[in-house]
Amino acid sequence: MRRPFLAGNWKMNLDRRSALDLVNQVRAAADRRADVDVAVFPSYVYLDEVARALAGSRVRLGAQDMCHEDSGAFTGAVSAARLTPVGCESDSLGHPARRHGFGARAQLVGAKVRKALEAGIDPILCVGETIEEREDGRTEEVVKRQLVAGLASVSAAEMSKVTIAYEPVWAIGTGLTATSEQAGAVHDYLRGVLAGLFDEAVANATRIQYGGSVKPSNVSELMAVDSIDGALVGGASLDGDSFTAIIEFQN
Ligand code: PGA
Repeated sequence: MRRPFLAGNWKMNLDRRSALDLVNQVRAAADRRADVDVAVFPSYVYLDEVARALAGSRVRLGAQDMCHEDSGAFTGAVSAARLTPVGCESDSLGHPARRHGFGARAQLVGAKVRKALEAGIDPILCVGETIEEREDGRTEEVVKRQLVAGLASVSAAEMSKVTIAYEPVWAIGTGLTATSEQAGAVHDYLRGVLAGLFDEAVANATRIQYGGSVKPSNVSELMAVDSIDGALVGGASLDGDSFTAIIEFQN
């Protein structure tokens, strides 16, 4: 009942030409694979052009983070009000790179989720533990705190717009993938937390992506896990052939 959702997080990679070339391959792959949802998350500066290159395709366009305010003296920030006119439909919020690299606190991430929903942007709320937190046995405590704070002002009805991404920090860009058992256990746990915050119906309907060194060679095994509903892909989404292979995973 949950449609697989495969998203390419381009991070601070790809120049204009390679971004536009990649988009053509992604849209062709998405056209061949009508039973999955596909999205790409380019740099802000290419959103407008990528949106035009995606016109009429099934690929959704997302941004990598946004400001929690609409406008004002927030140097270097981009608001939802600037993103929607260029065709941005989604936004990844609370990505570990933002939480750990730029100090985004859990409550701030929650404020951004609220802004995104008000602007008609579907948020992907990322949660995940560091290796130290995992080794201390604190994975569940950490992802629960991030999930609860991120969804603090979201209603059950609005949850149909929200995707969760489990992104263990130790697996991002490291080549270390969580095993399907490790990821599945956290996804099950998150779904239980969603049931407590909302109800079973919301928990069962909410898509939870896995992110962290997903590649063509491991995507099918991860996607075979019942509670894994998609992937947020970094490195392997930058190459057209490899992201195509991920979109066309065997199920
Ligand atoms: P990775 O990144 O696939 O390069 O590990 C995942 C992510 O950060 O979303």
